Amino acid sequence: MSNDPKEPLLLDHEYDGIQELDNKLPRWWVWLFYFTILFAAFYLLYYHVLGAGKLQAAEYTAEMKQGEAVKAAAMGKFESGMTTLTPSTDAVVLAQGQSVYTKFCAPCHRADGGGLVGPNLTDDYWINGSTYANSLKVIWDGVPAKGMITWKAVLKPAEIQAVASYIYTLRGTKLATPGKLPENQQPTKPAGPSTFE
Ligand code: HEC
Repeated sequence: MSNDPKEPLLLDHEYDGIQELDNKLPRWWVWLFYFTILFAAFYLLYYHVLGAGKLQAAEYTAEMKQGEAVKAAAMGKFESGMTTLTPSTDAVVLAQGQSVYTKFCAPCHRADGGGLVGPNLTDDYWINGSTYANSLKVIWDGVPAKGMITWKAVLKPAEIQAVASYIYTLRGTKLATPGKLPENQQPTKPAGPSTFE
């Protein structure tokens, strides 16, 4: 066995002919191992004992808070500048507005704007004012008491501008099926002969 190069490393036991070699670990590996121990000690001291650094959960909360502040500032800016905005005529913006409309607004205002639960958006009668800024405000804040949702929690200011610009283009359009009548012209009695007359 003396000419076996592995011999000096062989440990002095054997089980069913299986022997164990005592290989030396490479130096770089050992140093890396020491480094991880040092790192763990530093980590424990820095984050848990001294509390000098923020842990993940705290970092998350801080970033979310910062994000909320940025969002609130953007929303505040949009809200206060709403009256100065004008409808966009950009084809890309209008296409975006149309897709928002189809997805979120058509169920109540009908695909062509003729009105269902919500009022007709193609006629000259407006409950909440007819200017572009009026529309922005109604979409932004909604009229929750009357069934129009507050969209500021769902849509971004840019999407609200896009959809408001889109519905602006629906004004005065000729509808294939007659739209909903203005609120002040709603029939108070069911149409047709009534047995009570
Ligand atoms: C759940 C049904 C519903 C949905 C969805 C809805 N609306 Fe409305 N909307 C209404 C109702 C009801 C009113 C009437 C509010 C009132 O009487 O003041 C209204 C009013 C409006 C008005 C004002 C009309 C006027 O005569 O003053 C605009 C503009 C409007 N909606 C746009 C939108 C847009 C844009 C969307 C999609 C982002 C949308 N609505 C989604 C129900 C809805």
